[in-house]
Amino acid sequence: MKIFESHNVGETSKIAQEFAKTLKEGSIVALSGDLGAGKTAFTAGIAKALGVREAVTSPTFTIVNQYDGDMTVYHFDAYRLENVTPDDCDWMDDYFFSDGVCIIEWAKNIEAVLPRGYISVQIEKDSALGEDYRKITIDETGETKC
Ligand SMILES: Nc1ncnc2c1ncn2[C@@H]1O[C@H](COP(=O)(O)OP(=O)(O)OP(=O)(O)O)[C@@H](O)[C@H]1O
Ligand SMILES: [Mg+2]
Repeated sequence: MKIFESHNVGETSKIAQEFAKTLKEGSIVALSGDLGAGKTAFTAGIAKALGVREAVTSPTFTIVNQYDGDMTVYHFDAYRLENVTPDDCDWMDDYFFSDGVCIIEWAKNIEAVLPRGYISVQIEKDSALGEDYRKITIDETGETKC
C-alpha cells in the first residue's frame, strides 16, 4: 500500500505518470473517490505516460473509451451502472483480458464482475487541508475492495 499527497491537479498527474510505469499489458486499475475527486485527472496522467496524445475526457455517456498509445488504454466510467451481474457485463471480459490497460472510474459499481488482482487507487479529499488537497492510496496487492 502506498500513500501519496497531492496539492494540485498537476501533482496528481505526476503521481499518476509515475504509477503508470508499474502497469503492464492486462493491468486493471480500479479507481474510487467521490464526484470531482480527480479520477479522470489521474487517468489522464496514466494515459499521458503511456504515450496517448489525445486528451482524456470522461466517458460518462459511453461506459468505455479507447485510447491508443504505447499500450492501448481502455477508460471505463461505471458511474451509471448498478447491480450488475456477470451476464450483463460479459462483454467487458474482452477488455479485461486484452493486452491493453483498463482504468475504471466508479469501479465499485462493477466489482462483482471485475477479475481478481486489480490495482486499487482511492482518491480522497480532505477539506481541512484545502480545496485542492487529495490523498491518493494505491494498493497493488489486489486485496483491497474498490
Ligand atoms: N489535487 C488535485 N488532484 C486532482 N484534481 C484536482 C486537484 N485539485 C483540484 N482538482 C480539480 O478537481 C477536479 C477533478 O475532476 P475529475 O473530472 O478528474 O474528477 P472525477 O473524480 O473524475 O469526477 P467524476 O466522478 O465526476 O468523474 C478538476 O476540476 C481538477 O482541476
Ligand atoms: Mg471522471
